Amino acid sequence: MNICCIGAGYVGGPTMAMIAHKCPKVKVTVVDINAERIAAWQTDELPIYEPGLLKVVKASRGENLFFSTEIDEGIRNADIIFVSVNTPTKTFGEGAGRASDLQYWELCARRIKDVSESDKIIVEKSTLPVRTAEAMERVLHSGENGIHFEVLSNPEFLAEGTAIADLENPDRILIGGHETKTGQKALGQLVDIYANWVPRERILTSNVWSSELSKLTANAFLAQRVSSINAISALCEATGANIKDVSHAIGTDSRIGSKFLQASVGFGGSCFKKDILNLVYLCETYGLHESAAYWQQVVEINEYQQSRFVKNILQSMFGTIAGKRIAILGFAFKADTGDTRESPAIKVCKELSEEHAKIVVSDPKALDNAKLDLANLENIDFEEDVYKAVNQADAIALLTDWNIYKNLDFEKIYSSMQKPAFIFDGRNVLDHEKLFDLGFEVYSIGKPGLSHLN
Ligand code: UDX
Ligand code: ADP
Repeated sequence: MNICCIGAGYVGGPTMAMIAHKCPKVKVTVVDINAERIAAWQTDELPIYEPGLLKVVKASRGENLFFSTEIDEGIRNADIIFVSVNTPTKTFGEGAGRASDLQYWELCARRIKDVSESDKIIVEKSTLPVRTAEAMERVLHSGENGIHFEVLSNPEFLAEGTAIADLENPDRILIGGHETKTGQKALGQLVDIYANWVPRERILTSNVWSSELSKLTANAFLAQRVSSINAISALCEATGANIKDVSHAIGTDSRIGSKFLQASVGFGGSCFKKDILNLVYLCETYGLHESAAYWQQVVEINEYQQSRFVKNILQSMFGTIAGKRIAILGFAFKADTGDTRESPAIKVCKELSEEHAKIVVSDPKALDNAKLDLANLENIDFEEDVYKAVNQADAIALLTDWNIYKNLDFEKIYSSMQKPAFIFDGRNVLDHEKLFDLGFEVYSIGKPGLSHLN
């Protein structure tokens, strides 16, 4: 059995490394148009930071796991082709800002059609709008060449930072196939691959559309929880309630559950916003305007939460931050990743910059991406060393929940900062009372601020 994966990114790379690791008899080749990325996958400096990934890659690399830029050869030799290319939100034309940009996917489909010499199973691994499989089948089967392509949907549920654990021990694997003889046969083949390490009862099967829609819905529900708790955090700040107590109290209701109730400066990542916008576009396409508006609000609360955070900084620092040095601790969209796609830090830095703050960004893994994201801003520095970043700063804004930030020497930090020294905890991970006792002005999400000044 030969598997080829087109797209060596955050999804394709780790997923294929795990399949190769768990299925030693399957030859897995990951191809990409980005030669630099492919070269990095062949070294110990992998192109993405993901805890535990290098070990899994090294276990199979050169044995049954290969990385290559020979896309045509990869396609030709494969029985199963996973397509894991990027599908960003469209920035132009019909559906701009909401619909998925499918140009990379379509290019792949055309290439598969053009170079294939035998029947193949094509697996959608990228998150795609519902009914994409149908459109892709039309591309694949346009012009008769006698080759049969069977399209399956197999959405990825891994979260960055915990990708290896999520892949090794998934809550469920979802595979959608057509309710035809060839569809069910292909579906069975993919089930057999996962069954090498995933218990059968956790491998769910459905038709293609249910599978595609389940992925969008799962992410919309997760994001909705974060927006719901963030909406309540604003109310906590206004009333004197504490969001941590509220989260805990509601989370102990077993019907609600405790996960994804951590109030924050907002959610980021390549999936949540994109998938919700996709869902909104889908609803609107079918004339379901109320459903569209309902989900749109999850994104709007997220934007509101980020702007509210900057507004709080501005108000607490006496209405002006022009010329003040603000140290941003953490730029990645969450801990344990170098990924900054849709990170709340981007919007926060842009809004701080509009107020003419002097920004210095620190992050253990995401500084290269941060430099690209903020390339157009002036008055901005990048400093990996936290203690240098905060030196002489007027304020610290903690935006990513990296563990290292929880155990910093805040006494030393306080003494090196301008006074009054402000700290804005956008992730509610610090010990606020202790910081207050050290002399800081402490502001967090969903709790009244702690100030020595009034
Ligand atoms: C998500 C889904 O979890 C995953 O199943 C899907 O395959 C891809 O999208 P990911 O984007 O990697 O994964 O990160 P996730 O852990 O879901 O976090 C998303 C964002 O929400 C992060 O910015 C995180 O900091 C934020 N978040 C999460 C909160 O603000 N509060 C929470 O309680 C949980
Ligand atoms: P994800 O988070 O979905 O994995 P990434 O952007 O990390 O997204 O990865 C997608 C990968 O797909 C990129 O490395 C990109 O170079 C690759 N890619 C995009 N279009 C093609 C294509 N037509 N052929 C091969 N690789 C492609």
